[in-house]
Amino acid sequence: MSYRFKSVMLAGLLLGPVTLNAQNPDINYDESKVQPFAFLDPLITYSAKRVKTVQRWENERRPELLKKFASEVYGTTPSRRLATRYELRSVDSSALGGTAIRKQISVIWTEYPDLPSLDILLYVPKNKSGTGKPPVFVGLNYMGNHSISPEPGIALSTRWLPNRPDGKVVNNRATEAARGVQQSRWPLELIIAKGYSVATAYYGDLEPDHPEGWKSGIRSVLDPPTNQKSDGWQAIGVWAWGMSRMLDYLETDNLVDAKRAVVMGHSRQGKAALWAGAQDPRFAIVIANESGEGGAALSKRNFGETIERLNRSFPHWFCPKYRTYNNRPDALPVDQHQLLALIAPRPLYVASAEGDRWADPKGEFISARLTDPVYQLYGKKGIGTDTWPAIHSPVGETVRYHIRAGEHDVKRYDWEQFIDFADKQFRKAQ
Ligand code: GCU
Repeated sequence: MSYRFKSVMLAGLLLGPVTLNAQNPDINYDESKVQPFAFLDPLITYSAKRVKTVQRWENERRPELLKKFASEVYGTTPSRRLATRYELRSVDSSALGGTAIRKQISVIWTEYPDLPSLDILLYVPKNKSGTGKPPVFVGLNYMGNHSISPEPGIALSTRWLPNRPDGKVVNNRATEAARGVQQSRWPLELIIAKGYSVATAYYGDLEPDHPEGWKSGIRSVLDPPTNQKSDGWQAIGVWAWGMSRMLDYLETDNLVDAKRAVVMGHSRQGKAALWAGAQDPRFAIVIANESGEGGAALSKRNFGETIERLNRSFPHWFCPKYRTYNNRPDALPVDQHQLLALIAPRPLYVASAEGDRWADPKGEFISARLTDPVYQLYGKKGIGTDTWPAIHSPVGETVRYHIRAGEHDVKRYDWEQFIDFADKQFRKAQ
């Protein structure tokens, strides 16, 4: 970190004269009320040594940061592997108007026949644009596989789903009317036309998203939260783990190139995608869309959602220890740019939306920018500028960032940038 950048950060981006009540912090949306905060250097170890080489980063600093994120934020991922069997449920070789192959595969947890399967929906382009097998986007969806496309061949999820005011999910179960309700978030035609595959699954297959959800999910057998360990595994960790299990399957499927897997998540799934990418180096590219607090946004910058709010609204997402930092993010021994830095030297995309102040777009940008010294260790250029870019003006090379006009969502614009980024990165790697 250059002295110039540090001083720009402190003088320009972070200082504000107003004191907030530490006991009862309000959600701050006023840039002039952003308080100064400590910058945690990703390249200084907990024993105060400066990391100057890739070797030291990989052997010492990276592992100690990973451990800290597990013990303080996301919980420790169980190391026990569950035995699996992959059951091919359907194949349609003329999906999406004949442009794609659609497969549905269930990951069955063989030791636990009562545990819900992880149902993967996979689309593979038939028209290979590049050389070799197509790369694959991997991501969890919010409303069931049937929500990402109206194609009638997609099995309607029978799992617990959050009710919808439009009546398409009733008594926590999907109705036929729920088909395609989130198709705008998954522009399959675009992705397929660009030569990419997509693998998705409903995140509730792994753990339904409510405080009691663990009882019918993976945690019930792998690590039940009954003894309140401070680093106990929680839902964000489970979803991250699930994306790695999807990749395990993809490694066995000859239709896709699992070495070019791009993990992508929006919002809470953006948090999970980052944690998945940090822990699982098999993900070649990591994309976090509007992941906000507990995702890409700096925790110590008081703008938008706070740790306290996150833990209060979603007590099942983060480990018990994380709650001890409610109202005192300054005491947290990590900050989220260090999570992003764990992805280095792999390409990383952080995306924000102008109308999504809750996620602190500027805090997401600064966080991405603060990974630059780690990418530089590998001779790579990250964001490369202190200037928060204008709307629809992506910046950065191996770490890229954009802010889109509009609300908290995943739009075609976002996918266009992600695909363009993946194209460039995969071309470079050839
Ligand atoms: C809530 C939550 C955010 C989260 C978002 C989402 O707004 O406070 O942290 O990212 O939900 O997942 O949509």
